[in-house]
Order: sequence, then structure tokens, then C-alpha cells
Amino acid sequence: MSILKVARLGHPVLRKIAAPLSPREIQSPLFQKFIDDMIETMKEYDGVGLAADQVHESSQVAVLEVADNPRYPNKPNVPLTVLINPKISPLAEEMEEDWEGCLSIPDIRGRVPRYKSIRVQAWDRDGKGLEFIATDFHARVIQHEWDHLNGKVYLDRMRDFSTLTFLTEFARYWLQT
Ligand code: NI
Repeated sequence: MSILKVARLGHPVLRKIAAPLSPREIQSPLFQKFIDDMIETMKEYDGVGLAADQVHESSQVAVLEVADNPRYPNKPNVPLTVLINPKISPLAEEMEEDWEGCLSIPDIRGRVPRYKSIRVQAWDRDGKGLEFIATDFHARVIQHEWDHLNGKVYLDRMRDFSTLTFLTEFARYWLQT
């Protein structure tokens, strides 16, 4: 497995709408290795999620996992999940604001409104259908990654930029909120 280079804000690949994958493409050994590389890259950089366009591949696949993550302490664990061609729909209008960061926007955090509960439909890495409901932080991570696959970053979702902060200042001034 290999650790892939992460695209940073400003790279045009982050603004493209990623192409859907066919069942045939999913089964190829090259694509299966790519998924393993994405998982390794996410773990290497302590991410809780990673979308393919963040590693310069404009395809509809994202990985996520939350497990005692130092960048997001005290968050409920989410098992390792591979989402291919994901579709999401909110289950209620209710939104909640919380902090987000992004491996493509290093050292910065901001508060982002997201739906509290969503229905997720996708394929897993074997092309099997997945359907589940995600809530709270789990729902937040999926909305963040889904945005990446659609050419958006969390800055686009912020109501305003008054909470945008570097990590050092986050620890000093904002951690209590
Ligand atoms: Ni991100």
C-alpha cells in the first residue's frame, strides 16, 4: 500500500464533480488497491474521512473511519466505511453547527451547519448496496465527504467566516465552545 499525495485548496481537482464508478471499474485490482491506499492515507494524516478527489482522482468514492482520532477527540466511533457513488438525503430540516477541518485545507477549522440526520445510499467496495441512517458527527463526516465528491469544500457551507481559525488559536481561544 502507499500513502497518496493530498490535494490542497486551490487545486482544480477539488472543484470538479467526480465521475460515478461502474461495477466493472470497482472490481478491478487497480481500483481495489486505490481504496486501500485511500484508507492508508486517511489514517496517516489522522483524517476521519477522505474523498478520492482529495488524492487527485475525480471518482465517486470516499472512505471514513472515526476511532479515537487525535484531531477529533471525544467523538463517537464510526467503523471503517467505503462509500461508492453515494447519495444522501436529509431526514429532517434540522441543522447543527459544529467544528470541521479538512486535510485539503491544513491547520484551519471553522463552524459548519450540517443536517443532523441523513439517509445514505451507496455501494461498498464489493459493489454491494448499502443503505443506512447516519446522525450527528457520523452524518457530518458523510456530508463533508459527499461535498468533496461534488466539488465543494466546507468553507462553501459556512454561514460566515467569523469562526474561521488556525489550529493554534483554536486550542487557545475556541476549544471551550
Ligand atoms: Ni475535507
